[in-house]
Amino acid sequence: MIIAIDGPAASGKGTLGKKLAAHYGFRHLDTGLLYRAVAKALLDAGHSPRHQARAVAAADALDPAHFDDVALKSQAVGEAASIVSAIPEVRMALLALQRNFAKAQPGAVLDGRDIGTVICPHADVKIFVTATPQVRAGRRFAELTARGESAAEADVLADILKRDERDMGRATAPLKQADDAHLLDTTTLDIDGAFRAALALVEQARR
Ligand code: DC
Repeated sequence: MIIAIDGPAASGKGTLGKKLAAHYGFRHLDTGLLYRAVAKALLDAGHSPRHQARAVAAADALDPAHFDDVALKSQAVGEAASIVSAIPEVRMALLALQRNFAKAQPGAVLDGRDIGTVICPHADVKIFVTATPQVRAGRRFAELTARGESAAEADVLADILKRDERDMGRATAPLKQADDAHLLDTTTLDIDGAFRAALALVEQARR
């Protein structure tokens, strides 16, 4: 079974993906980490995230063993990831890895921006997770401060709005709800509430 979860930055899709995978004993891939790892490799080497050839080389050399690096979660890496992810050749270089992951038995949960539309258009269940930019900024701010990163909430909101615009406006695989995806608005839900709502959608698909 394939569960595809898409949504904008800080919508809670990663937490949901992790919880659904744990519930069903499935494997989980946070595909944002792929783009973040490519972006971090470029930044570490002093290159621009807009450098197509270097970005593709970094995507080809990706090592999933480093995906738990906490530095991938920083605001700066997220911003650079949004830039590299707009390069069609980078997306192409990361396609096979994601599609192979989706074949995991007994099932896989992938979360990102284009899972239901491009990576796994035949997923068994698609969930498009969203929340207002203000609520998402509040969550991201809490996450950053808990990790000891200093940030102003207004800057976090501005970053989220900029990221939404870039992720939804790019020509290749823009962030959008697939026609057959269920919309899950988590604006007024806590983690448990969002999980219960997502679980109900998956259970409906399993029946
Ligand atoms: O979900 P995230 O914040 O970790 O993602 C970082 C950036 O990576 C995001 O701004 C857009 C890009 N991304 C993408 O284009 N496609 C995906 N499937 C996942 C992330």
